[in-house]
Amino acid sequence: MTYWPPEAQMALKMTHDISAALLVGGVFFNYFLLRPTLKRIPPPQQAIVATRIGHLFVYLAYGTLALLFISGFLRLYQLGILDLESGFGGFFHSNFFKAHFWETKYARWLLVMIGGWAVAIIDATILTFVTRPILLKRLTLTPRPTPAGMQERRENQVRVAEWLERVVLINVIVTTAALIAGASLVYGGWI
Ligand code: HEM
Repeated sequence: MTYWPPEAQMALKMTHDISAALLVGGVFFNYFLLRPTLKRIPPPQQAIVATRIGHLFVYLAYGTLALLFISGFLRLYQLGILDLESGFGGFFHSNFFKAHFWETKYARWLLVMIGGWAVAIIDATILTFVTRPILLKRLTLTPRPTPAGMQERRENQVRVAEWLERVVLINVIVTTAALIAGASLVYGGWI
């Protein structure tokens, strides 16, 4: 365990906790409040609201995921689980890479937290680079669309929107699991 002044430890914990609260709060808001509300408003307004909130949520998600990783990584260093002082070789000889560390319940819940974070990053990447660009095309005007073309596009949009919902639901599950894991780590892990 490396010595950090109490103020530095508190700042680190607060960064981690506030980022977790903002991320999980944002994910819950999207899935349980925004999604059902959007279904009740007409499609043109729906598209405008969803696009704007989608843009803002991308900043929130990537910002909080980055802060969670940096503060989590530094906490592992502060706790002596990661060695950042003995060079490259020392780093890979840290407790984090030793088999006996992974036999503890602390490590199991840490793995749930880091795993949840990793899946959330994959989800965010899919949302940003796959589903959102397809849905945003809905807003661009094609000069003379044919009825068949419009029908195909509509069916495609519905399919992508269904996938988007699934990805957001996965986000709800994995970030909540990471939050529960983090809360249990305060007491050394759950079971
Ligand atoms: C979705 C992502 C994450 C969430 C929701 C989350 C949540 C939490 C929460 C609520 C705590 C308890 C904080 C406290 O002591 O007050 C915590 C602790 C911690 N987290 Fe995370 N975390 C996430 C990602 C990460 C990542 C990516 C890492 C590592 C790279 C990490 C490493 C840690 C460590 C080392 C602790 C301290 C445990 C202790 O004090 O013994 N977390 N996390």
